[in-house]
Amino acid sequence: MTTLCVFDAYGTLFDFNSAVARHRGAIGPKADALAEMWRQKQIQYTWLRNGMGAYAPFWQVTGEALDHCLAAHDISVPGAREKLMGAYLALDPFPEVPAMLDTLQRAGLRLAILSNGNPEMLEPMVVASGLAARFEAVLSVDSVGVFKPAPEVYRLVEARCGVAPDKVCFLSSNCWDAHGAAHFGFRTVWINRAGAPDDGLPGVLAGQLGDLSRLPALLGVS
Ligand code: LAC
Repeated sequence: MTTLCVFDAYGTLFDFNSAVARHRGAIGPKADALAEMWRQKQIQYTWLRNGMGAYAPFWQVTGEALDHCLAAHDISVPGAREKLMGAYLALDPFPEVPAMLDTLQRAGLRLAILSNGNPEMLEPMVVASGLAARFEAVLSVDSVGVFKPAPEVYRLVEARCGVAPDKVCFLSSNCWDAHGAAHFGFRTVWINRAGAPDDGLPGVLAGQLGDLSRLPALLGVS
């Protein structure tokens, strides 16, 4: 029986592509390729830093990934870095998210976020979205100094919210994060927004959904 739903932030609740989309006109025709590569490099850098034992806040990693991608695409639009990083502090939630959270909360489920983001970048985004009151906790890997999918990260949920892993339903659009969470012991649903094939990683997923709109039904609370 699920007591607490724990959501990944970037790509699951919040659309990281909305940063580039907001400045598409200024960035030009390479905007989509930039957005895709930025996300790939951002996540790759977190895994590499985990491997090196060289944690740095996600904000720094996100900026370093952006610098690489702007150079790789030869984009030298004045102010591009500042505009895109600024937009990252106010990413749009996916359209189905507010009503879905409302339904879960009205059904008595507890809600939290567990993210690679450091508090200084998560908090303004959650506040700007108007969804802050939905979450009892916005947990950040920053307090353990290592990124997902290290088990120390998933352990934060029980440490901070007092809920055992088998009472947690974890939601992530990142297949590797979903597998990490399932391997740790959460009931995990992969939000497969891109319709991608499953990754061959440890951890058995409880299911997958194309977006979050059917999560209440899956949990039997709609
Ligand atoms: C996060 C990234 C993995 O929010 O999307 O943790």
